Amino acid sequence: MEKNIALLSGDGIGPEVIKQARKVLNAIEKKFGHTFKYLEGLIGASAIDKTGDPLPPETLDICSKSDAIIFGTIGHPKYDEDPKAKVRPEEGLLRLRKIMGLYCNIRPIKVYPSILKKSPLHTNGNIDFVIYRELTSGIYFGKKGRSIDGYVAYDHCVYYVREIERIGRAAFEAGLKRRKKLTLIDKANVLETSRLWRETIKKMSKNYRKIQLDFLFIDNAAMQLIINPERFDVILTENMFGDILSDEASVLGGSIGLLPSASIGEKVSLFEPIHGSYPQAAGKNIANPIASILSVAMMLDHFGLFKEGKEIYKSVKYSIDKKMVTPDMEDSSSIGTEEVGDFITECLLKN
Ligand code: IPM
Ligand code: MG
Repeated sequence: MEKNIALLSGDGIGPEVIKQARKVLNAIEKKFGHTFKYLEGLIGASAIDKTGDPLPPETLDICSKSDAIIFGTIGHPKYDEDPKAKVRPEEGLLRLRKIMGLYCNIRPIKVYPSILKKSPLHTNGNIDFVIYRELTSGIYFGKKGRSIDGYVAYDHCVYYVREIERIGRAAFEAGLKRRKKLTLIDKANVLETSRLWRETIKKMSKNYRKIQLDFLFIDNAAMQLIINPERFDVILTENMFGDILSDEASVLGGSIGLLPSASIGEKVSLFEPIHGSYPQAAGKNIANPIASILSVAMMLDHFGLFKEGKEIYKSVKYSIDKKMVTPDMEDSSSIGTEEVGDFITECLLKN
């Protein structure tokens, strides 16, 4: 198989973790006879530094010509500390999501038994669910602004039925391939958009009789994730609730550095680690590359290369079981980003 891939490493630890993901893809190419052609593009703070624009037109061009996008991380403290900044790195990613129509963000949450002791919870390890987060609408993309005197600000939250239906379909279908449970998380006791979500998903459930559907308010869901995370199978939710819940869920397994994601688009899809740019760690060879490596496994699954994806999942599990992991997963570890990438790559080539 031959595929063109846009490589947007971004800021902070992005370039070093993406480098490891690419090593793994090189091994897959070698082992299975595929060809992946990469085109690199600027995005985020590094793109602002070089061009003034967090999403330069050349980057957009590369993305629209590619079969998939591999994304690192974006963000820089100098923008976080400046509420008046005219441009922000995050805008690059948000515009990319909107323009490329990356509406369906899939964030699988899994726990690896060998690192359960790092989990903040007393869990038996039976945590295995996936979050379907709507990614191109809601409060992130509604009309926003300030009054002239600056004392009033607003962010509108808007949802169309068709936007709810298209991610709803994806979530129901995912449920059919899993334990057949779908939980819609909303704030229907307060928000009109949430009531539209509930109404729409309830209607759709008539065509998915095998799926057991339930509903939770976001505040209760935040609590259930801590006291009873085993209850979840597929979570479906809107953009902002999904942002918050997925960070909360990501620590259940002991490290945010483990979790990959896919953002499925109308034509092209994007694959990225859930974690942020972690600028304090940049260049120190301590960042965990596993989330990026698992993100490319999700990309291979998306291409229909399930055997190849499975080999990556297996090699990652082996590296975790053998404690070939960065210090976020094992306090005493002196193993670095590069070494984890090398170990997983070798593992792939050997088996
Ligand atoms: C995420 C991130 C982004 C978001 C930021 C970087 C804009 O937190 O992908 O979860 O809020 O969606
Ligand atoms: Mg987030």
